Amino acid sequence: MDFEKAMQLRYNPTMDTKSLRSHYEDLKSQIHFHNYRYHVLDTPVISDAEYDKLMNELKRIEAENPGWVTPDSPTQRAGAKAAERFEKVRHPAPILSLANAFGAEDARAWFERVRKLDERVASAKFVVEPKIDGLSVVLHYRDGVFVQGATRGDGEVGEDITANLRTVKAIPLKIPVETGDRRPKTGPSPVHRPPSYLVVRGEAFIPIKEFEELNQQLEEAGEKTYLNPRNTAAGSLRQLDPALTASRPLTLLVYQIVYSEGGSIPTSQWELLKYLKALGFPVTEAAKRFNDIESAIAYTETWNTRRDELPYEADGMVIKIDDLNMAAELGFVGKDPRGATAFKFPAREVTTQLLDIRVSVGRTGVLIPNAVLQPVEINGVIVERATLHNFDYIAEKDIRVGDRVLVKRAGEVIPYVIGPVVDIRTGKERKYKPPQVCPVCEQPVEHFEGEVAWYCVNAACPAQLQRNIEHFVSRGAMDINGLGFKIVEKLIDSGAIKDVADIYTLTREAILEAVTKKDRKTEKEPPGKIADNLLAAIAESKNQSLPRLITALGMRGVGEVSARDLASHFGNLDALSKANAEDLQEIEGVGPNIAEAIVDWFKRPANQKILKKLKAVGLWPVEQGKREKGEGKLGGLTFVVTGTLPTLSREGVKEFIESNGGKVTDSVSKKTSYLVLGEEPGSKYEKAKSLGVKIIDEDGLKKIAKQ
Ligand code: IVH
Repeated sequence: MDFEKAMQLRYNPTMDTKSLRSHYEDLKSQIHFHNYRYHVLDTPVISDAEYDKLMNELKRIEAENPGWVTPDSPTQRAGAKAAERFEKVRHPAPILSLANAFGAEDARAWFERVRKLDERVASAKFVVEPKIDGLSVVLHYRDGVFVQGATRGDGEVGEDITANLRTVKAIPLKIPVETGDRRPKTGPSPVHRPPSYLVVRGEAFIPIKEFEELNQQLEEAGEKTYLNPRNTAAGSLRQLDPALTASRPLTLLVYQIVYSEGGSIPTSQWELLKYLKALGFPVTEAAKRFNDIESAIAYTETWNTRRDELPYEADGMVIKIDDLNMAAELGFVGKDPRGATAFKFPAREVTTQLLDIRVSVGRTGVLIPNAVLQPVEINGVIVERATLHNFDYIAEKDIRVGDRVLVKRAGEVIPYVIGPVVDIRTGKERKYKPPQVCPVCEQPVEHFEGEVAWYCVNAACPAQLQRNIEHFVSRGAMDINGLGFKIVEKLIDSGAIKDVADIYTLTREAILEAVTKKDRKTEKEPPGKIADNLLAAIAESKNQSLPRLITALGMRGVGEVSARDLASHFGNLDALSKANAEDLQEIEGVGPNIAEAIVDWFKRPANQKILKKLKAVGLWPVEQGKREKGEGKLGGLTFVVTGTLPTLSREGVKEFIESNGGKVTDSVSKKTSYLVLGEEPGSKYEKAKSLGVKIIDEDGLKKIAKQ
């Protein structure tokens, strides 16, 4: 199947009818193929977002050419035919799918469409539920006993996976029946008598945490790991060995009654969820009911940024008309009921071509393999590079140059390659061999016992120096504005900077030379001004505090928090440099590894040279009023800060409180001595008020510290 061709073929409004028709036919067979890969083989070769693109294009062509639509169009049925290896189960009612809405406008358009069909929709209530990315399953209960479980299949006929589903602990094997006295206390309300034959539908899935643990176990056992929870869940249920299913952390949430005989069932989705819960089924806790569409959309949108709070993968939220009779009367279009819509989250995973693997050198000399990708859009951003973590990862996942790979970009996380799509390999892919020398300084690389990473151990490696300087000047460290990547690169090239201390002896000429050599097109200011500003920023940074300098020196494992503790414990760099591992471990949060790393840092001749040079230029801060923890005017007091303060930054206020012996914590409790209140405070303010915690402003804080 020529995937590239399918992705390149784009709907073109000027196409003549004949080529549009053949494009349409082509598109249909592409989608059939991808349905088969997804629903039958459980090994899709494209991402959901790419599939949606193909499907949307098909729908658009059909909307303009309704005469072309035949019952075999992918828009006319759900999923693909059941695989041969399981018995078939005819569903008692069609197992429908959902039309997609991408954003609030689409959801409003859906609402308008259905409102035009039925005016009652205007005042309808809506239920919003997570759209779980798992495998749709249909569960049959006769006289309260679980008798059969099936996959969705093509929506009419599914596969009998009863034996496998039985192993899923979340599925009740028995539910209360209509015998009054045997009904458990948690059973349904007396208004709804449980039906003698009940068919419910839900989504089987593997929660994210369990998925990660499973992959870790597989990795430790030297077995192949899985790409994502959805495929793993589907694969675990759609194979013939129930023992294997049982070993997978599968669970389920139910959301629909497909069919019932005898008894009575609720006629609203909200009541239905409560009813299913009372019967003993697992039901989502994130569902909410709203009195109008706008509130439903607003709630739905909050999940765009909160989706990671859910313990499972969700690819959107479902907005459903609460009144199930009204929803049913609205009927459906193809396989999609009109009474509900899937509000999709922006895509986070796509597939693309891995063009090359390049290696960069981190601050500690660690070699990091990076993927060079065929540029691809993920959630509005073009991604061309992604991390491959380390060389073991590449080997484990058998990632080859030329592979089509699944790439994920979620939230703040750096895009990373999840793994290769093995099934569409052409044979031209190349296995990757890690480099034996550093790609920058060409010195041999080393591997340390017990670590997966490879390191360049050449202290003079320019790449390491570059990273060290980037870190030294960064905002949380010495905060030197104007020493950007390009200038630093030139200064290293010209030999003006050989270690971080050389920053303080930079001449105006050396800076001018670097600035002029640098790509000037993007520069707005004259070189002289840039050089003067930079020299001023460097001079200013000499006033930075000891904790910042310790952070800037970049000892392994020493971040801003431990730097502050080290500074207040030792008071200056002379004392710190003489400390042995035992002394260091007296400090909270410093364990044997970090202690060792600190001692090692001070032992190295290159670092001793740096310290000497720093002292020579007068950069030798001493912790003001060095004192043991708890001493000082604020000793023994615990502070929580909320909102923006008039002069002190977040960091600044923390430094102020701690240097005066106080403690800063994140959350308000009865033990909090003071809440320091700024502009636009968060919920901590309410909490402090409710607990009766004393509230002060920045001035108040300064007064207490002076007293
Ligand atoms: S409602 C008529 N609710 O999403 C009922 N579906 O793309 C139609 N899904 O095939 C389905 N969570 O497998 C519904 N809370 C939820 C869902 C949900 C996941 C799946 C379901 C469906 C697919 C539609």
